[in-house]
Amino acid sequence: MKNWRILVAALGLFATSAAFASDVISIKFSHVVADNTPKGKGALLFKQLAEERLPGRVKVEVYANSSLFGDGKEMDALLLGDVQMIAPSLAKFEHYSKPIQIFDLPFLFDDMEAVDRFQKSPTGQALLTSMEDKGITGLGYWHNGLKQLSANKPLRSPKDARGLKFRVQASAVLDEQFKALRANPRKMSFGEVYQGLQTGVVNGTENTWSNYYSQKAYEVQSYMTESNHGLVDYMVITNTAFWNGLPADIRTELSTIMEEVAVEVNLHAEELNLRDKQAIIDSGKTEVITLTKEQREQWRAQVKPVWKKFEKEIGAERIEAAQASNQ
Ligand code: LMR
Repeated sequence: MKNWRILVAALGLFATSAAFASDVISIKFSHVVADNTPKGKGALLFKQLAEERLPGRVKVEVYANSSLFGDGKEMDALLLGDVQMIAPSLAKFEHYSKPIQIFDLPFLFDDMEAVDRFQKSPTGQALLTSMEDKGITGLGYWHNGLKQLSANKPLRSPKDARGLKFRVQASAVLDEQFKALRANPRKMSFGEVYQGLQTGVVNGTENTWSNYYSQKAYEVQSYMTESNHGLVDYMVITNTAFWNGLPADIRTELSTIMEEVAVEVNLHAEELNLRDKQAIIDSGKTEVITLTKEQREQWRAQVKPVWKKFEKEIGAERIEAAQASNQ
């Protein structure tokens, strides 16, 4: 009898804790960059605020540096429900939304303020919901910053890039951009870039200062050109079925938190990039080249025909809206 009571009590306890455990919503947030970058910090801030404001109801696990899924795998993982949030660079959406390719058009945005204006515009906001039929919901944009070029030879004029092999993200636009320079683009996951540069599989690449610094690209690239020719920004996305299935109060709170985190990330991204640019200069391993206005114009003229190639897929009116954000 006594044993039976103990058994019932134990079962009750088990049932209660099981119910409690199933009440905790677990969010796995996977990404490919380091913690000390705009996206890395954003993911950690989201975890902190979600767990502070929804104690015992939401738990967030952040997996940085491709430690759970690298790019190429993370989108499938989101759709399969193996992770609940990711924030791929905007270059990685072409299979889900052609209009999002707009963010890869070279020399489209004059500066990050223009990017910000476009993302906040009705055209930019509409892109967040453009993949819902594919099971993907956009929760917001996070900045990283403008891209710079790197190689083991100085890149001052577009001619200097000819014949070099450049690592690109999985993006047809970026592929065409390097072809327009008569260089050889090679698609490669972010996690493989350091080794690719080190072993000479590729000779150069393009990225932001924070990605170059945190991945130690300055150890294997002797020159970086401050070209500001394109953008690395992110869309934070979730699985639509997961998101719509959340209790309404939790979804509302998480949306509020996401808005606050975006403000914070976007406010500090430029500062982080400038800090890391300085750290690269201080390493003494890489020479940072600044272009004259005329040199930058040459690069722009050389890659501008890429716009026309993607105008139909992206939509001419979207490109106009983005250009209007340059004011
Ligand atoms: C890349 O070069 O693949 C990146 O832009 C990765 C990232 O998420 O910043």
